[in-house]
Amino acid sequence: VVAEDLEVCSSVVNTQAPEHEKHGGVIPELASREHLLRIIGVVEQALIEADTKPADLRAVAVTRGPGLLGCLAVGISTAKSLGLAWDKPVVPVNHLEGHLFSAELERADVRYPAVILLVSGGHCLLIDARERGRYELLGQTRDDSPGEAFDKVARELGLGYPGGPIIDRLAANGKDAYRFPRPLASEGLDFSFSGLKTAVRRRLEAGSYEVDDLAASFAAACYDVLITKLNRAIAEREPESVIVVGGVAASPILRERLRHELTIPPEALILPALKYATDNAAMIGAAAWWQIANEPPAGGNFGPSPRLALRAAPG
Ligand code: KG4
Ligand code: ZN
Repeated sequence: VVAEDLEVCSSVVNTQAPEHEKHGGVIPELASREHLLRIIGVVEQALIEADTKPADLRAVAVTRGPGLLGCLAVGISTAKSLGLAWDKPVVPVNHLEGHLFSAELERADVRYPAVILLVSGGHCLLIDARERGRYELLGQTRDDSPGEAFDKVARELGLGYPGGPIIDRLAANGKDAYRFPRPLASEGLDFSFSGLKTAVRRRLEAGSYEVDDLAASFAAACYDVLITKLNRAIAEREPESVIVVGGVAASPILRERLRHELTIPPEALILPALKYATDNAAMIGAAAWWQIANEPPAGGNFGPSPRLALRAAPG
């Protein structure tokens, strides 16, 4: 439950990580079944914790995509049912745009234009937002996202799921001993992480490695690339703020490095609170408020859009 000024009245997250951990990754059918079982309970809990009743709500916001089809379908059919029952409009939100708004939750001082880096399990996007809600895509990954690469390597190491926090924790005790490649670091604003993942895998298969150093070398290569590209975008675009969001922005190592290595004044760096870096509904509510104020109502005629892209700036 999010208020119009982006104060978070309650934020309830039902994590499926323990369920996925048993299988070493996400199994779509299990994920959507879990959604179906939990979603009403989570909505009820969010209303209770916010001390709100449905009649007080302005709208029901829901993720339209990108994401797993079954999970999106559960969310959308639930949101539409609640919208009907409560007589509220339903606002379909782009999951990526939700992440972009996560850094604005509970703070009103974010200045635009901003350069935004979104690094999650499915995406790695570099964006120029000339103003709130208006995006120009500067670069994106040509293959894996860093989160996805972390998840895959952690699985091969038998370390569990999700891999990002596990690799990051091990990395804190290791050093960058293996100097893995920094793909595309010297050119442009696009990313590529599959070559790095392959280099890590080769070291793994060769069997001669220290696990902490492997994690530290892998994370260092990823974060070096992210920071190099951000600094390149900063030089080109001269933004007022730099915003880093998405699950990988929960990494304490990355957060610390961003604070020291970006070529901007410290107060220009905007990071979401840790709990809003990884997937959550509060950021979807924040994006919905922007849509309500700036766009015509969507109406009820929308369905899941598993491969939805971030919309480009109009005009
Ligand atoms: O944004 P998110 O919660 O879900 C997607 O939209 O994909 O991001 C999840 C990704 C996973 O790949 C996970 O391994 C990574 O974020 N992640 C982290 C950390 N916490 C989550 N990566 C590095 N360090 C972390 N602490
Ligand atoms: Zn996400």
